[in-house]
Amino acid sequence: MDTTLSDKTFVVTGATSGIGLEVARQLIDLGAAVIGVGRSPERCRAAESALRAGRPTAQATFVAADLSLQSEVRRAAAEARRVLDGDGRTGLDGLVNNAGVFTFWLALTAEGFETQWAVNHLASFLLTNALLPLLQAALAARVVTVSSGSHTGARLNWDDLQLLRRYNGLRAYERTKLANVMFTAELNRRLGPGSSVRAFAADPGLVKTDIGLKGTPALVRWVWAARRSGGISAAESAAGIVALLAGPGLEDTGQVYWKHGRPRSPSRRALDPQEAERLWEVSARMCGIM
Ligand SMILES: NC(=O)c1ccc[n+]([C@@H]2O[C@H](COP(=O)([O-])OP(=O)(O)OC[C@H]3O[C@@H](n4cnc5c(N)ncnc54)[C@H](OP(=O)(O)O)[C@@H]3O)[C@@H](O)[C@H]2O)c1
Repeated sequence: MDTTLSDKTFVVTGATSGIGLEVARQLIDLGAAVIGVGRSPERCRAAESALRAGRPTAQATFVAADLSLQSEVRRAAAEARRVLDGDGRTGLDGLVNNAGVFTFWLALTAEGFETQWAVNHLASFLLTNALLPLLQAALAARVVTVSSGSHTGARLNWDDLQLLRRYNGLRAYERTKLANVMFTAELNRRLGPGSSVRAFAADPGLVKTDIGLKGTPALVRWVWAARRSGGISAAESAAGIVALLAGPGLEDTGQVYWKHGRPRSPSRRALDPQEAERLWEVSARMCGIM
């Protein structure tokens, strides 16, 4: 991409490995400043050194925050604002809600939410809302939320949104990825057609990362190791996300869902405006922002 992103700053969550680390690397190579967010201080330090290696002018700053907790999401937003202030910047040019987990067994966060719902959906919802004033202060800004093609078979069960009664790890994961697309469509509707902020949901494809190997049972690790071998590299996948952040001419597109930089049709459910509005209201209540 023959674009320069100097003078632009992006927040990338889950920037310590896989797709997020590659998005951060590509943004930095285009001249942007990146504020990475990761759950482990050690992995944040390692990612920051990896991004700075061989790039003496690289602007990479990491904020360690466990996004499964809303208190930490709020702190991450405040830290990002402090970094921007320190750099003398008033606006944020983009946010990539990329952090994600797959948890096979039902696990609740310390705040009582199902972990995948908390990390994959609520954290994206809350962080975007917390950073919205900064995004709106930029000339033009983009919010990319990393969804998945696996959302297409999913539906939200309004009686048991977090599948607390009948948990199934894969169904729970796919439902969070559906929520990512619905959130994106509703965010655009709420921002309105003339907004300087545009939101996109990205399907990264099948990518050779460690997501299915982290804290999962041996059988899941074995299945994921086999499945990911047919996938693309994190760098290839990241290029599609960077195109949504940096590509020209996307301001007026009505397309919500993209794969490798091209528009795709999400599931019918993902584009249902009543369901998306309901999801927004429920999520806002869960995050205490109503
Ligand atoms: N790989 C695929 O084929 C695929 C397909 C469809 C969608 N996706 C989506 O792509 C996104 C990135 O996944 P990936 O495949 O690149 O996996 P990954 O390498 O495991 O990256 C996930 C990132 O999220 C971070 N993270 C996890 N829980 C967190 C928490 N509580 N707080 C803060 N950060 C947290 C991880 O931190 P650590 O480094 O500490 O683990 C890591 O940086 C996810 O949203 C995933 O659902 C992936």
